[in-house]
Amino acid sequence: QIPSVRLDDHCKFSTPFVLILCPTTEEQWKASVVKSIEALVDSCVVLPCTFTYPGSFLSTSRLRGIWHRKDKWNEIFYHEDTTSVLDNFKGRTKMLGNLGQNNCTLEIVQVKNHDIGPFCFRIEFVKKDTNQPTTEKFSFVEECAEIKMLEEPPQPELIQSNTAVQGKPYAVTCSVRHTCPSHVPVFTWSRGSEDDIIQIQKPIVSGIWETQSIMVFIPGENDDHTEITCSATFNGGRRSSTSIKLNVKRTGNIYHLIIPVAVAIGTAVIFGVFCIAVMKKYKNRIAELQSREGSMFNRLSRMSRR
Ligand SMILES: *[C@@H]1O[C@H](CO)[C@@H](O)[C@H](O)[C@H]1NC(C)=O
Repeated sequence: QIPSVRLDDHCKFSTPFVLILCPTTEEQWKASVVKSIEALVDSCVVLPCTFTYPGSFLSTSRLRGIWHRKDKWNEIFYHEDTTSVLDNFKGRTKMLGNLGQNNCTLEIVQVKNHDIGPFCFRIEFVKKDTNQPTTEKFSFVEECAEIKMLEEPPQPELIQSNTAVQGKPYAVTCSVRHTCPSHVPVFTWSRGSEDDIIQIQKPIVSGIWETQSIMVFIPGENDDHTEITCSATFNGGRRSSTSIKLNVKRTGNIYHLIIPVAVAIGTAVIFGVFCIAVMKKYKNRIAELQSREGSMFNRLSRMSRR
């Protein structure tokens, strides 16, 4: 009997011979790298990168990832052997991605304004025992990253929730976009304590992140017309800040409404009671007068008969 083995299985657990028989495995030499990204000078930047290669799965130890300048393979930005790295990149580049998971994400720290690239990824297969590269290597020069330098940090954006009401929790959100998810900006507020602050990281698009700091506090009467300032300190120490003015609606305003209304109602009630009392009194008087009139009429009629 012939064991039934699917062609796919052959290709997955391939010997080089089977690889030739199965040239159309799904994976090809392909990389997906952010094409253009902004970075703040002195800060850090993380270049997102993923890649695929033909053939069977290889563990991280069988793969060597290199970043080099486009068309200049000897100008190396990142190599596990740091002696081959360009002097002005030594110690500043790090492979954040796990090559065994097809992730070639690169981190550059202490960004200098000449770090513009283009940065291209190169993968080499290495032999198990000797750690020497095999003939399988590929530079993804069609997919390289260029960095645009920002000399000044972006200003944080401040968003207020509805209206601040005295004595009720109130939230202010401060957010800033950056390209350094490994060392995110640190926020400081002109008021509130650490406990009042929530920090959130959100990916926006490939390579761009947003860090938010949400401060919740209970405004008091004295906070009306005061300023709140949020400052973002970026990796490397550059700093920017934004302020907003606070308008606190006083809950006291409600008493200002209640008191006149209460006074009006009270006055009406007292006046009503007074009116009823007066009417009662006059009713008695009228009845008295009527009865007196009656007796007088009786007396008169008796007199006239006489
Ligand atoms: C690649 O690695 C980086 C750094 O560890 C990580 O942030 C990112 O999510 C990974 N990308 C993918 C597609 O897994």
